[in-house]
Amino acid sequence: MRFSKRTALVTGASGGIGSAICRLLASEGASLCLADMQGTDELAEELRASGKQTISVPTDVADRSAVASAVARTLETFGRLDILVTVAGVVSHGSAEQLAEAEWDRVLDINLKGTFLCCQAAIAPMRAQHYGRIVTIGSILGKNGGNARPWIARNEQDRSGNVAYGASKAGVHALTLYLARELAADGITVNAVAPGPIASAMTQAFPETLRALIPAGRLGQASEVAEAVAFLASESAGFITAEILDVNGGMWGD
Ligand SMILES: NC(=O)c1ccc[n+]([C@@H]2O[C@H](COP(=O)([O-])OP(=O)(O)OC[C@H]3O[C@@H](n4cnc5c(N)ncnc54)[C@H](O)[C@@H]3O)[C@@H](O)[C@H]2O)c1
Repeated sequence: MRFSKRTALVTGASGGIGSAICRLLASEGASLCLADMQGTDELAEELRASGKQTISVPTDVADRSAVASAVARTLETFGRLDILVTVAGVVSHGSAEQLAEAEWDRVLDINLKGTFLCCQAAIAPMRAQHYGRIVTIGSILGKNGGNARPWIARNEQDRSGNVAYGASKAGVHALTLYLARELAADGITVNAVAPGPIASAMTQAFPETLRALIPAGRLGQASEVAEAVAFLASESAGFITAEILDVNGGMWGD
């Protein structure tokens, strides 16, 4: 029960990876604030039915006041905010040549600005406690430039390129490293988990040719991302900060 005295706010809580993280943290005793743009009532009910303290706060992470409300509700209800996991994100396809400006803005607003707003809102309460664990969710596509196959034909780039998504996740990695240094002396660690392709709604249409590039020979499971997050969110990872942890079956290593 690593999290029996801990309260966690998880964004993107109703998604494939977010819900796996919530279930794991709750199973080890955490009280939870589920923050997602989509309803999280079903997951909240499931967790409450098994005796977990859970609140559900509809939140658009790109909206500063909505994020502030989610943090405020967490503090009002549980009195603490120990763990922030920023999972909310959207996938986006498109080449640099073709991508519409509006799509660039949408993806950067949710994936990068949304992560920033959540982290920013968590700083004051975590500083006041002199304890915090922030875990962001990056991506292998933030490391390899947003295209698993940079050598593909130009006419395939629109379908397989991820110019905005890759840049947004590279930004999440940089933000994570920045925050780790700003907050290290306050007992707050800031790390990222960078998943490779994980079986989820996001990868339903994952092409067989890309699957063949994963040395492990399979997509990852949301539960495998959750295990990495839980480790970084635990008290025992207190001397680990500014780490971008790959969970990708060997597809990328640095
Ligand atoms: N699935 C993968 O292969 C994979 C790989 C690498 C990284 N990731 C990252 O993991 C995270 C979760 O992905 P997933 O596979 O669970 O996807 P998912 O689509 O199942 O979940 C994403 C969740 O984010 C929520 N969301 C979207 N926009 C939001 C907003 N503005 N405010 C609040 N919530 C919002 C959605 O409602 C959804 O519940 C994302 O950040 C994604 O980029 C996923």
